[in-house]
Amino acid sequence: MHADFVLLPGDGIGPEVTSAAKQVLQRVAVEFGHSFGFDERPMGGRAIDEYGDPLPQSTLEACRHADAILLGAVGGPKWDDPNAKTRPEAGLLKLRKALGLFANLRPITAHTQLIEASPLRRDLIEGVDILFFRELTGGIYFGDSWLSDDGRRATSVMEYAVGEIERIVRLAAEAARNRRNRLTSVDKANVLEVSRLWRRVAARVMTDEFPDVDYEVVLVDAMAMHLISRPRDFDVVVTGNLFGDILTDEGSMLPGSLGLLPSASVGETQPGLYEPIHGSAPDIAGQDVANPLATILAAAMALRHSLDLDDEAQAVEAAVAAALDAGLRTRDIAAGDPSVGTAAMANAVAEAVTRER
Ligand code: IPM
Ligand code: MG
Repeated sequence: MHADFVLLPGDGIGPEVTSAAKQVLQRVAVEFGHSFGFDERPMGGRAIDEYGDPLPQSTLEACRHADAILLGAVGGPKWDDPNAKTRPEAGLLKLRKALGLFANLRPITAHTQLIEASPLRRDLIEGVDILFFRELTGGIYFGDSWLSDDGRRATSVMEYAVGEIERIVRLAAEAARNRRNRLTSVDKANVLEVSRLWRRVAARVMTDEFPDVDYEVVLVDAMAMHLISRPRDFDVVVTGNLFGDILTDEGSMLPGSLGLLPSASVGETQPGLYEPIHGSAPDIAGQDVANPLATILAAAMALRHSLDLDDEAQAVEAAVAAALDAGLRTRDIAAGDPSVGTAAMANAVAEAVTRER
């Protein structure tokens, strides 16, 4: 098949990890007889520098016409001025909203080879396999927000409509059916009205449409605790935008490194947006030390969710596992000295795609 990717390398380590993922996708194309096009576009801080806009119109248009979008990372201290007119992150939020990417899938899987890299005890994390569904285009991220004229008071509104809750709960429940059939919805219904609505709507969707799925609700503060004390108990977790942002960063420490975790943002229609969950790590940018595996695994998610190429996605995932099995470690996951840098890790995964095929 032919598929067109838009690449948004972005800032910091974004360009290095994106080019690593591109290399692996190119290998997949050769091995499986596909043709993949790659259209690289500016976004984030560098787009602000060049075009005064973190998401130039031409980038957004290219994204709309792509089959899948692969993003590195955006942001950095250079663009952190609180008085600046715009920020790199604003481009990402606008892209999510413009493409209707309301569901953010964040799998958190403990790779057996890397248990030692986790700050938690082996017996707690062995076998952890959680899939987060974070609502991505609503909630406090997109509610009204304002600063009072005297600059002494600020407000950000957390708002959800019934339809927004239903659609994310449905997607999460469907995913649970294909996994261990267990769904946990996380809210703050003991305090927030918006969470009480979330809880009522989620319960109705589950009773009416998914009575076969084992369903529970957990308050977000308790969830923060359970995620560390008994992470193996969770299968699919669904929650709002802000809670999901926070819990998935916490969850990312279970497997040991942010550098391993991919994410997919999808909506009712194509294309999806695929990215590592880590940030732009400006302190290590351009040094060939960043871990490209999260972005490579994000590319695997693109193959599966946007292109329907499940065998190809599995080949990439198996290749990542093979590279880890072979003992290859970038700095973030090395107990002692790292054995490879970004480029060498990408080469090894690409080679393994050929072998695992
Ligand atoms: C994430 C990031 C973003 C978010 C930032 C960069 C806007 O933290 O994808 O989790 O808060 O959604
Ligand atoms: Mg985040």
